[in-house]
Amino acid sequence: MSLFNVYPLFDITPVTANDVYVYDDKGAEYLDLYGGHAVISIGHSHPTYVKNISEQVAKLGFYSNAIQNPLQVELASQLENISGCNDYQLFLCNSGAEANENALKLASFHTSKQKVIAFKNSFHGRTSAAVASTDNPKIVAPINAQQEVIFLEFEDLASVEKALQNNDVCAIIIETIQGIGGLDEASTTFYQGLEKLCKQYNTLLITDEIQCGFGRTGDFFAFQKHGITPHIISMAKGMGNGFPVGGILIHPSIQASYGLLGTTFGGNHLACAASLAVIKTIKKDHLMENAQQIAAYFMEQAASIPQITTVKGRGLMLGLEFDFPIAELRKNLIFKHHIFTGSAKNSNLLRILPPLTIQKQHIDVFFEALKKELS
Ligand SMILES: Cc1ncc(COP(=O)(O)O)c(C=O)c1O
Repeated sequence: MSLFNVYPLFDITPVTANDVYVYDDKGAEYLDLYGGHAVISIGHSHPTYVKNISEQVAKLGFYSNAIQNPLQVELASQLENISGCNDYQLFLCNSGAEANENALKLASFHTSKQKVIAFKNSFHGRTSAAVASTDNPKIVAPINAQQEVIFLEFEDLASVEKALQNNDVCAIIIETIQGIGGLDEASTTFYQGLEKLCKQYNTLLITDEIQCGFGRTGDFFAFQKHGITPHIISMAKGMGNGFPVGGILIHPSIQASYGLLGTTFGGNHLACAASLAVIKTIKKDHLMENAQQIAAYFMEQAASIPQITTVKGRGLMLGLEFDFPIAELRKNLIFKHHIFTGSAKNSNLLRILPPLTIQKQHIDVFFEALKKELS
């Protein structure tokens, strides 16, 4: 049987990893400034993570959501503590797309409306309502296109209000910082305007924190910089450091009822053990502070390279924009210098999404390699 060939693959086979390094089947070491697509938060094979998951699987790997699972209750409590999102409710699932799917479905149940407002260049996942809310017609199949989504520009509050006036929009969904779209972020005025309009028109504000959340920007959630209180916050990626886990935080004004949402695997014992290890380590190793410090250092280094036209993003969700396509540069960084980085929809943007444990010396290695490639 062959694999369904949907991914263009680099010819590298990682077999082990440790902190910010990945090792292939020939023993070569790679510096991971990509974090397996913003997933590795506390570093590869972190001892607390390995211990938590190993001990949990030896005790109980899985049981259904029909029984008490104190690990879910503990995860909700730890999430409240680390995020400061007091009194929100937690629903757990398995991936980013699923988190947004549940967020949009819940918004529709809650408001009894069906349209969605999303933004140009957005990415919210590849399933039903999530992919329909993604601004990329190439990945929207005819079966998904029935969902009515209005795509608007950042900063255009007048168009948002106009779209809300028909009173048929259940949710506005927005990545606080766009990921694959190219690291754009709207202004605080825009976020606060969206919040106000959502209240006025009985529409739910969903912040997609799947890539930018869980400490990556130096705040636990990126929206917190804008002083807003979203109705729903979606999370995944860094939440499990590679273990498939996602979730939504739901504002206390939204009520649950039996059967409203549900999943077989979501919130299973192993996923909770993984995510609890992530939160514990972010706190104990001060990884949000580290993200801020290393980001500042990265910006300083980037400023000394004339070929970089813009540095985008914040914390450890960064993009270097050049005035040429970066595909060749990215390949050379991998194959000549053994450094993983990411790409974006904007072909001139090189993305940097390292584990939050990264140190200055790793940044130095990257900039040395970059300078060599650019000279
Ligand atoms: C902002 C954002 N939302 C949603 C998703 C979808 O997550 P998943 O691939 O886990 O379904 C992604 C994945 O890249 C993302 O970056």
